[in-house]
Amino acid sequence: MAGTADALLLLLAAGLAAAVWPQPQLLRQDPRSLCRLSSRQFRFAYANDSAVEPGCEVLDGAFRRYWQLLFPPGYKEPAGSNTEDLCPNLLVSVTEAGCSGYPTLESPENYKLSVSVDLMLLTATNIWGALRGLETFSQLSWRDEYGTFYLNKTDVVDFPRFPHRGLLLDTSRHFLPLRAILETLDVMAYNKFNVFHWHIVDDQSFPFESMVFPDLSSKGSYNSATHVYTAKDVKMVIEYARLRGIRVIPEFDTPGHTLSWGPGIPGLLTPCYVSTKPSGTYGPVNPILNSTYQFMASFFAEVSAIFPDFYLHLGGDEVDFSCWRSNPDIQDFMQKMQFGEDYAKLESFYIQRLLDIVASYKKGYMVWQEVFDNGVKVNPHTVIHVWKGHPNFEDEMSRVTEAGFRTLLSSPWYLNVISYGQDWLAAYRVEPLAFKGSAEQKKLVIGGEACMWGEYVDATNLTPRLWPRAGAVAERLWSNETVRNTQDAYARLSDFRCTLLRRGIRAEPLFTGYCEFDAL
Ligand SMILES: *[C@@H]1O[C@H](CO)[C@@H](O)[C@H](O)[C@H]1NC(C)=O
Ligand SMILES: *[C@@H]1O[C@H](CO)[C@@H](O)[C@H](O)[C@H]1NC(C)=O
Ligand SMILES: *[C@@H]1O[C@H](CO)[C@@H](O)[C@H](O)[C@H]1NC(C)=O
Ligand SMILES: *[C@@H]1O[C@H](CO)[C@@H](O)[C@H](O)[C@H]1NC(C)=O
Repeated sequence: MAGTADALLLLLAAGLAAAVWPQPQLLRQDPRSLCRLSSRQFRFAYANDSAVEPGCEVLDGAFRRYWQLLFPPGYKEPAGSNTEDLCPNLLVSVTEAGCSGYPTLESPENYKLSVSVDLMLLTATNIWGALRGLETFSQLSWRDEYGTFYLNKTDVVDFPRFPHRGLLLDTSRHFLPLRAILETLDVMAYNKFNVFHWHIVDDQSFPFESMVFPDLSSKGSYNSATHVYTAKDVKMVIEYARLRGIRVIPEFDTPGHTLSWGPGIPGLLTPCYVSTKPSGTYGPVNPILNSTYQFMASFFAEVSAIFPDFYLHLGGDEVDFSCWRSNPDIQDFMQKMQFGEDYAKLESFYIQRLLDIVASYKKGYMVWQEVFDNGVKVNPHTVIHVWKGHPNFEDEMSRVTEAGFRTLLSSPWYLNVISYGQDWLAAYRVEPLAFKGSAEQKKLVIGGEACMWGEYVDATNLTPRLWPRAGAVAERLWSNETVRNTQDAYARLSDFRCTLLRRGIRAEPLFTGYCEFDAL
C-alpha cells in the first residue's frame, strides 16, 4: 500500500502545465496572458543584432529540432475560431560571434528568454547558452484539449550553478550501439547536461578502434565486426554532442581495468605468478617496462588528437596489487626503487609517468579519487573525481579541496544501483557542497556526474533506467541550491517525463499515474 506522502505527491502532480526541468534560476509566468503558437506561422529566427547569423550549423540545426519537438510529426493544427493572439517568431540574439568551436569547461551557458504576444526574444552570450534557452522555450508550450498550443507570458533569467554536469556511459561491460549513445545525447540536452563521460573500454571489452594499434579492438572487442566504434562512429558522436552543446570526455582507465588491452598488445599486462611460475593469467599494466611507456605515449598521442576536449579521463581506480605482488620481476623492481611493500608507490610511479606523457600533449586530465588518495604528484589543474563511499562523500570532498584540487562528485549518483520505490529522491536530495570546508574550497567543486555502469545495462534497458532518474542529478547541478522541494520536483519531473515520452523517449514512470500520450 502506498504511503500518504506518495499519495499527496500524486495529487500535487495533477493539473500543472508547462513545468520546466531543470528549474531555471528565475522563472516568472503570467497565468492571465497567453498567445497561441501556430505551426503555420511560428518560426525561429536570428535577431538582426545577433553576432551569429543564419548558416550557423549549431543554431540552424537546433531550430529544426526544436520546431519538430514543438509540433510533433503528423500534428494537425485545429482549424477554427481561436480568438487568442498569435505568438510572434522567437528571435534569437547571441552576443559573441563563433559557431564552429567546441564547448569547454569555461563556456558560459547563460541566457534570457522573454515570451509575450508582442515579442519573443532569446538572448545569450554564445551559442551554447542559446541552446539551453531553446530547450527551456520548448518546455513552455502546452496544449489544450482541442490540440491547440499556447505559451504563457514568461520571463526567464537562467544560468547553471555548476559548469560540469556530466553523465557517464560504460560501453565495455556491454556494447552500446551508436543509436543508443546518440539518443542519450539528445536526452542529455533536454536535461541541460553538458558532458558525456565516455567510459569507453574496461576489462571486459575494448570497442574503441585505434588506427595506430588496430589489434586493440580486433582482439579485445566482443566482436570486431559489430561491437566496435570506428573512427567514423567516434567522430559522429563528438559532432552530434557538439551540436547539442555537450563535451565528450573519453576515459581510458589504467593501470587496472585493462584486461581487454592484453590480447592486442602482448607484453603490456603483468604476468601473474603462482609460486615460481607464471600462472597464465594477467594483472594490471606492467609498470616496470620501458615498452609500456612507449606504447602509452603513442596511444595517448592518437587519443589526444581524436578527442577535441581539453580533458581526458585517465581512470586510476581499483588497482589490484595481488598480481604485481606475485611477480618476481616486479618484486625486484620494488626493491631497486626502495618502495618496500608499498604497492601504492608503484602505482604512483606508473601514474606519474602517464600523466607526464598526457600533459606533454597539452591536455588536462581527470582521475578517479584513488590517484589523490595514494598521494600521486599531479599537476595543479588535475580534476579529482570522487566516487567512493557512496553515499558518504563529504570527507573526501573536504580533503581533495583542502589540497587545492578541483573536484567532481559522483558518489551519490551511481544510477546503475537501483531499488524498489522512488530512488530518484536520494539522488535529488544530495547537496554537493555540504562538506566541511571554506568558501574557497567550495569554489573548487566544478560539478558532478551521474554514472550508469554497464554490468547489467545494455541497449534494452539503458533508456528507462537513466530517465527520468538522471534528471534528479541534472537539476541538482543546474538549479539554485534552494530548489529542493521534493513535492514540487515530483510534479515537475513527472510532467517532464511525460514530455520525454511525447518526444519518443522510453522514460520510466516515477510512480502511479498517466501521461496524456502514453496510451498511443
Ligand atoms: C498559463 O495560462 C493558463 C490560461 O490562463 C493558465 O490556466 C495556466 O495556469 C498558466 N500557466 C502558468 C504556468 O502560469
Ligand atoms: C531590428 O529589429 C527591430 C525589431 O524587429 C527593428 O525595430 C529594428 O529596426 C531592426 N534593426 C535593424 C538594424 O534592422
Ligand atoms: C629504460 O629506460 C631508461 C631511461 O630511458 C634506461 O635507463 C633503462 O636502461 C631502460 N631499461 C631497459 C630495460 O631498456
Ligand atoms: C539562490 O537563491 C537564493 C534565494 O532565492 C538567492 O539568495 C541566491 O542569490 C541564489 N543564488 C544564485 C546563484 O542566484
